[in-house]
Amino acid sequence: MITVDDARAKLTAHDQQQVLRFFEQLDDAGKARLLADIEALDLDWLARVFAHTIDKVNPADIAPYEDVVRVGADDEADAIARGEEALRAGRVGVLLVAGGQGTRLGFDGPKGDFPVGAVSNRTLFELHCARLCALGQRYGVVPPLYLMTGPSNHEDTLAIFERGARYGMPEDRLMIFQQGTAPCVDERGKLLLDAPDHIACSPNGNGGLFAAMRDSGAFAHMRSCGVEHISYIQVDNALAQSADPRFVGYHLARESQFSCKAMPKADPMEKVGQFTNVRGRLAVVEYTEIPEDLARERRADGELRIGWGNPGIFMWSRRFAEAQADRADLPFHKAHKKIPHLDDAGTLVEPSTPCGYKLEAFAFDTLDQAERSLILACERDAEFAPVKNKDGVDSPASARALMTKLYRGWIEAAGGRVSGEGPIEIDARYALDAGELRSKLGESFETSGDLYLK
Ligand code: UTP
Repeated sequence: MITVDDARAKLTAHDQQQVLRFFEQLDDAGKARLLADIEALDLDWLARVFAHTIDKVNPADIAPYEDVVRVGADDEADAIARGEEALRAGRVGVLLVAGGQGTRLGFDGPKGDFPVGAVSNRTLFELHCARLCALGQRYGVVPPLYLMTGPSNHEDTLAIFERGARYGMPEDRLMIFQQGTAPCVDERGKLLLDAPDHIACSPNGNGGLFAAMRDSGAFAHMRSCGVEHISYIQVDNALAQSADPRFVGYHLARESQFSCKAMPKADPMEKVGQFTNVRGRLAVVEYTEIPEDLARERRADGELRIGWGNPGIFMWSRRFAEAQADRADLPFHKAHKKIPHLDDAGTLVEPSTPCGYKLEAFAFDTLDQAERSLILACERDAEFAPVKNKDGVDSPASARALMTKLYRGWIEAAGGRVSGEGPIEIDARYALDAGELRSKLGESFETSGDLYLK
């Protein structure tokens, strides 16, 4: 362990000696904890990240990204067949990110434990696992699930999966690991303490997944079981189609390293990251950076010129993801936040306005590293049901309504009739898609809603 003199020298070299200002008041255990934190700090990295603000995109550099593979393209059946072959061969693993703090939902527990099943009240974790088990039934191999948690919900998530008997996931097909953290700093870049023996930290953003997969042994697990491609979904998308054969197939056919699903924007000014072409390269640009006239511009056929939003559904080749983990220059964003911290008197301050920065990396910021990428259009309402807010848009209620809409459509496509407005839910293990449902329901099927097929 580093000595206090070495710790002081390390901090002083970066003008961060305030970290030790309560050191003499600590007991031996507290001293050891703080020294261990200081030893683990990479202060060169911190100085670099703090100094390097991610440049805002120059509006003049933003152009539409045209190369989007549409739903129903001529080669779709081939892509699906190719994806199915990869699933049968066990070459696809699923990464589910669930490390966020879920502040907007205000739920006391991991977001994945939030009940959203339109009829069953199954939780987000249960829905995602049911889909993987259903893929296992269909293709003979359950895609392994790599579930990334964060410091605020790791232990709870482990307990939930234990209580729920892993929601049917075989033991060797589930790995739960924790993402890393980054230290929090004040507006001048000085490290903050949230206890006399502890540097304030926060999850390092979903871009922290690459290093976390390396450090947890997730990449090693993938290599040992032949997983070559990673399907990425976010825990709060109740309709996320992990390891979707169509997506897997196109990703393989294009030999893509980083593939993204894209959804048509709900309206020109929708608050969502958007796929654009920035100086000749594919990029996700925040809605705040796209000038309003460009966001509203339409082509002759009426389509928005910048019309594709990012639902956060990706695929990477494992090798590409592994290379990102080893980068020292992964871009970080500074998020201006209210960070509880100790003042000079050692009192914990709960600020009412932002007072410092959390440092976060975003997975999609690695898009510029891909030599080959792919944008695949998806049917928005069929695979994007985000649970972000307590009520209103992107809430549990809107996710339940989207579920009902999707499954009602499947029943009608199978020749059945739905007369009422009640909620409808179909367990993925009963039917993974409309085609499978058709093979199970007779044409005379009728329901007035409040239906759960399982
Ligand atoms: P969001 O950006 O919506 O954040 O995460 P959140 O924490 O869930 O919710 P708010 O903003 O506090 O209300 C999008 C996805 O990325 C994951 C989340 O769990 C979610 O699946 N995520 C986010 C992480 O895994 N780690 C992070 O550090 C941040």
